[in-house]
Amino acid sequence: MIDDVLKPIHGGTDSGPPPRFDFSTNANALGPDPHALQAVQAADPSRYPDPLYTVLHQAIAAFHQVAPEQVAVGTGTSELIHRLVRWRWLRGPMLILPPTFSEYARAAQPAELPLLQAHSPEEFLQLLPRATLAFLCVPNNPTGEVYPFLAEAAQTAQRHRATLVLDLAYHALTQNPPPLPQGVWRLYGPNKAHGLTGVRAGYLVAPVDLTHFRHLAPSWVLSVHGEAFLRASLEPPSQTWVAQTRQTLWRWRRELAQGLRKLGLEVQEGQANFLLVRVGPATQVAQALRARGLRVRDCTSFGLNEYLRLSAQPPEAQKALLEALADLLASNWKAW
Ligand SMILES: Cc1ncc(COP(=O)(O)O)c(C=O)c1O
Repeated sequence: MIDDVLKPIHGGTDSGPPPRFDFSTNANALGPDPHALQAVQAADPSRYPDPLYTVLHQAIAAFHQVAPEQVAVGTGTSELIHRLVRWRWLRGPMLILPPTFSEYARAAQPAELPLLQAHSPEEFLQLLPRATLAFLCVPNNPTGEVYPFLAEAAQTAQRHRATLVLDLAYHALTQNPPPLPQGVWRLYGPNKAHGLTGVRAGYLVAPVDLTHFRHLAPSWVLSVHGEAFLRASLEPPSQTWVAQTRQTLWRWRRELAQGLRKLGLEVQEGQANFLLVRVGPATQVAQALRARGLRVRDCTSFGLNEYLRLSAQPPEAQKALLEALADLLASNWKAW
């Protein structure tokens, strides 16, 4: 029997009919980024990519002002998370701060790593010296929170030789992101900000030489589409597109929060392109909404069984969701 933690549960595509509106995916709702999409479509799938990804590593290194050896690419950040967790150089207790992205715990289980789960930022800092590997999601999925203790966590990790990985999947879409501390490992999954999550590509930037880590992946870990996407995502037209679209996403998130509060619902609005709303029986409400063509992320698998995660979506999608929720409220769902 598969243990619960091994089941992948994410927002986005499910096996049901396509929804009218999808609030469950955190990908940029204004996507896809036209420049990146054009690069992906122009990639030549009749050839292998460069197995060493030399030009791509150089482009990422130049963008982040590090040496090319400090960069490793992967088939999405999920793959990089699993590879990090299985890397024997980092083997030992792994620390997370739930509720957070499920893939960290999911990777630790088959790798048979002891998993330390902090219940508060204070506990995270206390446990950090006992961990060899720790993940923090910035902003956090599902809460949208940007932790105020990043610099302290980075210093503690450095003092105790723990590897602190910041998962920056939604960082490019964050409102007022703080500067990132030095000495941490950074995971970038630009497919979310550029609205191209079907392109499986991400990268890691570390304060160490990643040559050995690169060799843990099979050859051609990134397809020509992934290679073309990552290169394009760093170029000015794509960077400008993300900078312009995120303003709209924050406005949509604010409007959605206002609409939900008007219905009398409690909203937790962080700094990301998504928010949490407390609805009571989250699974039943999510199912009722799905039956009306609206997909939302039931947060039960995050341990938040009264919450839905909703991404910033255009006004017509918001209107449909708010109307459906008002209807459900009228049917007194809290008593379901
Ligand atoms: C916080 C976070 N990190 C990483 C990922 C993995 O994304 P990908 O494998 O597409 O890079 C996701 C996807 O939902 C996520 O929410």
